[in-house]
Amino acid sequence: MIGIIGAMDEEVSKIKAAMTDVEIQKRAGMDFYKGKLQGKEAVVVRCGIGKVNAALCGQILADFYQVDYMVNTGIAGSLNANIDIGDIVLSTDALQHDMDATGFGYEVGVIPRMPVSVFEADRHLIDLAKEACEKVNPDIKVFTGRVVSGDQFVSDKEKKKWLVETFHGYCTEMEGAAIAQAAYLNGIPFLIVRAISDKADDSANMDYAAFERKAIEHSVNLMMEMCSQL
Ligand code: ADE
Repeated sequence: MIGIIGAMDEEVSKIKAAMTDVEIQKRAGMDFYKGKLQGKEAVVVRCGIGKVNAALCGQILADFYQVDYMVNTGIAGSLNANIDIGDIVLSTDALQHDMDATGFGYEVGVIPRMPVSVFEADRHLIDLAKEACEKVNPDIKVFTGRVVSGDQFVSDKEKKKWLVETFHGYCTEMEGAAIAQAAYLNGIPFLIVRAISDKADDSANMDYAAFERKAIEHSVNLMMEMCSQL
């Protein structure tokens, strides 16, 4: 069974609509759509925005659905001049850029008393997603790199510069690393798939509104194809 998490309705509604044999179960205020996607057992859910919602949702997927894979799909802000609006980023790994225990002597992004703070995505899922993306989204580029997550919509060029210099991220969003951490703690392979909606700089608010739909289309296309190959 694959668990697919999106933060917003727009990010998962098309995937839900393509499911068959659907049963909806409400847990922690979230609707879990359990059924088949491209003939494969799947559970698709909108978790809401931010790391807490995302982590909770990941734990429910582990406990109640015993998912074999967790995939977080949606949109993100680009942190790299080569990665354009509409392009896709697949996570090599993910971390939380707003985890800050520097006052205790930890480096920023490091979770105190955890053996791991940078969560590595599953190689098999990365390869599958890359192949799927090249097949169904031939007009865009697919990148594989670090996703940095935080409870913050990044729309400031100084903050963006800091994220790039400190963490070398490819894109930034608000859920991926929380899902990655939940997946890690439960021993479940994960992947983050994000289509770029903006450049995470001073134009982010405007670009986001204009390009959100197109970006979501790319990530949905990819997810559907990837699922059929799982
Ligand atoms: N999701 C899409 N764009 C984003 C941004 N600039 N910052 C955080 N999350 C995002």
